[in-house]
Amino acid sequence: MEMEVDLDNAAEMGRLDASGMLTVMEWFPQQVREALEIGGREVSLPRADGLHSVVVLGMGGSGISGDVTAALVSGCLRMPVASVKGYALPAYVGPDTLVFAVSYSGNTEETLECLDEAVERGARVVAVSSGGRLAGLADELDIPLFQVPPGLQPRASLGYLSVPIVCALERMGLVAGLVEKVRGAAEILDERADEYAMTSPLDDNPTKRLAKDLLGYLPVVYGSEGAPAVAAKRWKTQFNENAKIPAFDNWFPELNHNETVGWQNLADVCSRCYLVVLRAQGEHERVSRRIEITAGLISDDVGHITQVCARGANEVERLFDLVYFGDMTSVYLALALGQDPTPVTRIETLKKRLAGESA
Ligand code: PA5
Repeated sequence: MEMEVDLDNAAEMGRLDASGMLTVMEWFPQQVREALEIGGREVSLPRADGLHSVVVLGMGGSGISGDVTAALVSGCLRMPVASVKGYALPAYVGPDTLVFAVSYSGNTEETLECLDEAVERGARVVAVSSGGRLAGLADELDIPLFQVPPGLQPRASLGYLSVPIVCALERMGLVAGLVEKVRGAAEILDERADEYAMTSPLDDNPTKRLAKDLLGYLPVVYGSEGAPAVAAKRWKTQFNENAKIPAFDNWFPELNHNETVGWQNLADVCSRCYLVVLRAQGEHERVSRRIEITAGLISDDVGHITQVCARGANEVERLFDLVYFGDMTSVYLALALGQDPTPVTRIETLKKRLAGESA
């Protein structure tokens, strides 16, 4: 399949990417730094004594902040973190639960419904939003709010939506040393920015190259257990929303107990799939072996297999590196397909129809 837009032609890309998604994505390192500043703002956080769980409420581009947070704190937070994506608040949420309600627009009904319930149950709540009803409720109910800049797509705000949560957990004394790691990660991301930038030519730019290779294929993104699995989920949703194509994710070792078998039939479909395996240093040695064996078992069934290995000295750098790589790839793929990466018309239409029904 031919590229609709030359990924080395900034003017052509700029014409299609009218809202500047590529630039926003490219500025991810800067966004992480600003998010650290937002997370450090004078906000009166709940007390930490007696907490037994953390819950992050959020959907879609906001909800992924819960998965990212859970991955970032998994090595040091001594209580469970759950990402709640829906209308149902788990029964264990109560006065000893710290609840982060994350909605970029502030108007997402699932998040607001769970928030109402959490408040009713006496949970200790913190909000992250650019405005909308969530910001209004925060004001009304005296809920601490990390207010993030408006005017972006939620999925282009991952730094703003996740980093303040990490800052809050650290300020409450629940984790230590993570903020410093996030600061360090921003420095590393600066180096990646040069490599992944729109001005970096396709031959030297691994994100443009992967986008070109993916043209005409259905991406299936596998991650090894932990941060790469979360990154795989992010890649999948970014392919959906930016490039407007179907994409799927799964993770090792779980997929060895089901999906590995699923490549045996529908040869015409399987051969149109491009498998990207996300990996990171420190992966379990049995997972490494599983990846090798799995690739051997399914290589004749899928169209292509490639790997992207996270670079970075710690879990924060590695997760952000994989996220950044996938974000940039998805925007280049959108442009190569002739798609404006920004609009998500179907999400908006769906929300409007739902609103019309409940009005
Ligand atoms: O990317 C999107 O636009 C969606 O996934 C939204 O993030 C999702 O619908 C939730 O909206 P919000 O992030 O404003 O809470």
